[in-house]
Amino acid sequence: MKVLIVGGGGREHAIAVSMKKSKRVDALYCVPGNAGIARIAECEPSVKVMDFDKVIAYAREKEVDLVFVAPDDPLVGGLVDALEAAGFRVFGPRKDAAILEGSKAFSKDLMKKYGIPTAAYETFDAPEKALSYLETAKFPIVLKADGLALGKGVLICNTLEEAKAGVREIMQDKHFGSAGDRMVIEEFITGPEVSVLSFVDGKTIKIMTSAQDHKRAQDGDQGLNTGGMGTFSPTPFYTEEVDAFCRKYIYQATVDAMAAEGREFKGVIFFGLMLTKDGPRVLEFNARFGDPETQVVLCRMKNDIMDVIDACIDGTLDQVELDFEDNAAVCVVLASRGYPVSYEKGFEITGLEHFEGKEDYFCFHAGSRLDDRGRILTDGGRVLGVTAKGATLQEARTKAYSASEWVSFENKYMRHDIGRAIEEFQGNA
Ligand code: AMP
Ligand code: GLY
Repeated sequence: MKVLIVGGGGREHAIAVSMKKSKRVDALYCVPGNAGIARIAECEPSVKVMDFDKVIAYAREKEVDLVFVAPDDPLVGGLVDALEAAGFRVFGPRKDAAILEGSKAFSKDLMKKYGIPTAAYETFDAPEKALSYLETAKFPIVLKADGLALGKGVLICNTLEEAKAGVREIMQDKHFGSAGDRMVIEEFITGPEVSVLSFVDGKTIKIMTSAQDHKRAQDGDQGLNTGGMGTFSPTPFYTEEVDAFCRKYIYQATVDAMAAEGREFKGVIFFGLMLTKDGPRVLEFNARFGDPETQVVLCRMKNDIMDVIDACIDGTLDQVELDFEDNAAVCVVLASRGYPVSYEKGFEITGLEHFEGKEDYFCFHAGSRLDDRGRILTDGGRVLGVTAKGATLQEARTKAYSASEWVSFENKYMRHDIGRAIEEFQGNA
């Protein structure tokens, strides 16, 4: 089987590593890919994920049997539909289903209509209405641009003034472009946040193991929101009780709701959950694998990923049992100093050879590229996702942090408390 992965970050590297393990994969391709993925797959950096014609032309040239579309933008933009129309077998939701992530107003309305637990909210398509609604609202309050905004379209506002400025930013100044044509104003809720990934075949949903992300740039959850500074899996916050609640009220209900709306969902649904005092609430859905959640989840999956992908496409997921190793994984993101605001790129990365031949260690590349001399250079805000598995979370954490010292590049920056929540949870921080 020849497989093409669309995307070029740490998530795609983790997917590529899983596919490489499959006996059924003969050749692996990735667009645009990165320098890490290029070690196990043929990459074509000139093919960008939003250039659908080029992606299709590349898939034709390589005569691939399957295309896996990983990032949100091409999914929401309809790349799956375009590839299917060109005759390819594709993993990922079609455009009409990827709206689950592409529109916050859609996902909130869906949850309301089908009784899926989420924070109370209102949607607005004009700034005047949003501003007048705020006059009588309770604070803090949460503002969300409707569309995709690189994970930055959420503003938590403590005062009326802040919230009014936020509405203007989103709807009038169009800080997030057309993503702010509509917005959601939502009740502020609190509790630990967990990420749950699942495979879906349109009818059946199978839950992977749980994970937890660290979105803020600095230790102690200080600083700006980022794409994710590190993850661990499983999370002790995801108890049997939480799991039972979510199975009863959230997971299957979401899949059934999409089917009832005529928007059959096939692919991965990522449930962003907040565990409130009153029980789990859905904060957001993503229509794809999470980044960097994938890095700690897939390395623990025992199944051949190609079998699971086939079952999702063919609608036979009910015959698959997902099986995860009884261990833990931690991923520490090595970023460029200054991320997520401004940072320099183009520094040489050294020490990557330390990861070779070590089963429990992975160095997933998020933003790297090869130069003409074959050197690997930093090429993004998030550069590497150093990941380790261990018998326990503590062991995985110790291993990931020691491995984070194996690699060097100028302006290397990381958080030092990825997975600390584990210890806090157990009361010995
Ligand atoms: P989202 O993109 O919807 O996941 O939002 C980004 C982040 O904003 C989440 O990970 C939460 O930390 C926070 N957030 C979103 N919605 C709420 C809410 N209703 N109450 C409190 N925090 C929220
Ligand atoms: N780690 C959060 C996301 O992938 O959206």
